Amino acid sequence: MEIRKRSLFLVIGVSFVFLLAGCIQQLPKETAAAPPVVEKKVEEEVTKPTNFYTEKLKPLTPAECGRCHSFLYGLLQKEGAKHKGVLCTDCHKEFHVYNPIKQNWVEIMPKCERCHGVCHGEKLAKCSMCHIEPHAPLRIPMSAFLENNCATCHSKEAKEVNQFLSKHTEIGCSACHEKHGYIPSCMDCHEPHTATLTTNKQCLACHPVHSPTRRLKYALDTPNEICAACHGEIADTLAHNKSKHHDVACVRCHGKHKYIPKCEMCHGQPHTKALLMKFPNCLECHIDPHNLPTKVAAE
Ligand code: HEC
Ligand code: HEC
Ligand code: HEC
Ligand code: HEC
Ligand code: HEC
Ligand code: HEC
Ligand code: HEC
Ligand code: HEC
Ligand code: HEC
Ligand code: HEC
Ligand code: HEC
Ligand code: HEC
Repeated sequence: MEIRKRSLFLVIGVSFVFLLAGCIQQLPKETAAAPPVVEKKVEEEVTKPTNFYTEKLKPLTPAECGRCHSFLYGLLQKEGAKHKGVLCTDCHKEFHVYNPIKQNWVEIMPKCERCHGVCHGEKLAKCSMCHIEPHAPLRIPMSAFLENNCATCHSKEAKEVNQFLSKHTEIGCSACHEKHGYIPSCMDCHEPHTATLTTNKQCLACHPVHSPTRRLKYALDTPNEICAACHGEIADTLAHNKSKHHDVACVRCHGKHKYIPKCEMCHGQPHTKALLMKFPNCLECHIDPHNLPTKVAAE
């Protein structure tokens, strides 16, 4: 379509040029009866060259090609990426030689391999399967072929997704990466636990996105509020408890999700061996780490 439209413009353009040329040719015809006058006129126009064929020819610049191929020039200008550093004629060593009888289109068109080799390996040797537009080389639409080859280039992420099976394994790469290189927001698909969680970075601190079922160590500044979203009762109890555990953050004791600490981790052996032999479970007396009985409370 595009080519046809441009050709039509060209035809109109060229016709216009011929019309002009016609006018110019008529001039000498009218004055043919009096040749000396014509000579005089030429002498008067000092700027007019007497020889039109003096310039040294240079290859057409991209802008010159672009006068006729304005669409492709514009495309390179907008989406050419590093191909903006490549001349039309660097790629098109030959052009305007297409012959429908010879059916030589493929033959005359530039080959990516000439400059890049088979850069991603033999399995991805058919460049146009992904790079659909040479004049916009980073325009790579999602396709089944691309989807089947994420792992060819991103083996690390693919390995992680498949090693730690999760719901994210099931949905597949392109459910999140809708376009190549696009990074989704977790909130496109999930409600955050609390309103204070607003960025991917915060979520990623607890959930590695390619292996979300893996348990990570919590950062020590993780607020209790996040745990409270699911463990409301415990958080509430601790918040009202008057003991010194009130000031100990959940994640200080529970360094990873579901990890249960030993009291000795922080307290060593606070009582005599004899007492602890008799009562090996600290909670027999201290009842509940989230609700330690305190002297104040006992009174
Ligand atoms: C990086 C290499 C590269 C550069 C730079 C490049 N081209 Fe191309 N061009 C190609 C390839 C490859 C094709 C073949 C596409 C196909 O077979 O569909 C092509 C096709 C074309 C076509 C025919 C197909 C169409 O889309 O109309 C024209 C016309 C064309 N180029 C003009 C230009 C012009 C003008 C420039 C500079 C402004 C330019 N090209 C710059 C690689 C390049
Ligand atoms: C005076 C106008 C004009 C200029 C300047 C021009 N072209 Fe073309 N070109 C055409 C026309 C007309 C066609 C055929 C219709 C089409 O494909 O748009 C064409 C076709 C092409 C094609 C595809 C067919 C083939 O035989 O190669 C390529 C590639 C191409 N041009 C490249 C270039 C490059 C590169 C330049 C600059 C070095 C350039 N053209 C300069 C008018 C021009
Ligand atoms: C005449 C040589 C030449 C040809 C032919 C050529 N390229 Fe390039 N291409 C380059 C150069 C030079 C760069 C910039 C390399 C750099 O700076 O690292 C480049 C860069 C690229 C990039 C990276 C762009 C970016 O901004 O990151 C892609 C993708 C690419 N080319 C794809 C292709 C594809 C696909 C083809 C075939 C349709 C092709 N190239 C044909 C010379 C060429
Ligand atoms: C399965 C799809 C696919 C195929 C087939 C493919 N590419 Fe790529 N190529 C990509 C993707 C995706 C990128 C990364 C683009 C980005 O950086 O956004 C890329 C990047 C590039 C780059 C930039 C340099 C780099 O490696 O980062 C060049 C050059 C390139 N491709 C050339 C080629 C050439 C030449 C061929 C054919 C021999 C080819 N590609 C085949 C998908 C493909
Ligand atoms: C031909 C190799 C190739 C293929 C196939 C490929 N990629 Fe890429 N991808 C790249 C390259 C190269 C980059 C750029 C890396 C960079 O900028 O550091 C990239 C970048 C990315 C990024 C962005 C990284 C960032 O830091 O922003 C994501 C996400 C991504 N790819 C996902 C995918 C997914 C999903 C698929 C399959 C649908 C896929 N890629 C297929 C080569 C490829
Ligand atoms: C649930 C959504 C989701 C799925 C499914 C997913 N990703 Fe990602 N991916 C992300 C997010 C979010 C990031 C950004 C992570 C970050 O910022 O550290 C990312 C980052 C990446 C990156 C950039 C690497 C980096 O460390 O920045 C690549 C490459 C990538 N993913 C490839 C893949 C591949 C390949 C698959 C399938 C095997 C896949 N992803 C599946 C959401 C997803
Ligand atoms: C394209 C949608 C999508 C995006 C984006 C997405 N997820 Fe998911 N995620 C899902 C689906 C679907 C499930 C399974 C159903 C559910 O638990 O809601 C899931 C499940 C999870 C699970 C539970 C894992 C399991 O196997 O039980 C966690 C944790 C999770 N996502 C975290 C994240 C985080 C963190 C991000 C951002 C880095 C994110 N997700 C981005 C779709 C998505
Ligand atoms: C402080 C750590 C932490 C942060 C930050 C965090 N989560 Fe979670 N998330 C958890 C824990 C713990 C679970 C429960 C896991 C289990 O059931 O084993 C969970 C469960 C989930 C689940 C599984 C479904 C459910 O609701 O039970 C999804 C989805 C999820 N989180 C998404 C997110 C998103 C999105 C963010 C960022 C807005 C986020 N999480 C931030 C700790 C966190
Ligand atoms: C998205 C909801 C969610 C969030 C957020 C969450 N948890 Fe959990 N947590 C759960 C679920 C579900 C279980 C499993 C309950 C069960 O097995 O009965 C669990 C279990 C636990 C257990 C172990 C329970 C046992 O019986 O062994 C601990 C300890 C725990 N969570 C602490 C935390 C801490 C600390 C935080 C904050 C950093 C947190 N959780 C955040 C949902 C969550
Ligand atoms: C992550 C470390 C940590 C763990 C694990 C821990 N505690 Fe504590 N506990 C503390 C800190 C810190 C204090 C305050 C100490 C201070 O200020 O002298 C404290 C204080 C106490 C006190 C005194 C309370 C008061 O208000 O005077 C008792 C009793 C106590 N812990 C019992 C236990 C028991 C029983 C366990 C196991 C169920 C336990 N702790 C596990 C850190 C911990
Ligand atoms: C001083 C250390 C400490 C602090 C602080 C702490 N916990 Fe615990 N937590 C424990 C210990 C020890 C157990 C095991 C109790 C037992 O064996 O009965 C436990 C058990 C749990 C359990 C599972 C048992 C149950 O009662 O359901 C959950 C869930 C839990 N804690 C959540 C939290 C949350 C949420 C916070 C912060 C609001 C928090 N914890 C603060 C030490 C602590
Ligand atoms: C037989 C009951 C009993 C057992 C078992 C017990 N404690 Fe105590 N613990 C006490 C009493 C009583 C106090 C003194 C309360 C006070 O002074 O307020 C105390 C005080 C403490 C204190 C506060 C010390 C201080 O200097 O303020 C810590 C910490 C403590 N116990 C930790 C533990 C740990 C850890 C265990 C298990 C290894 C444990 N206790 C087992 C009864 C017990």
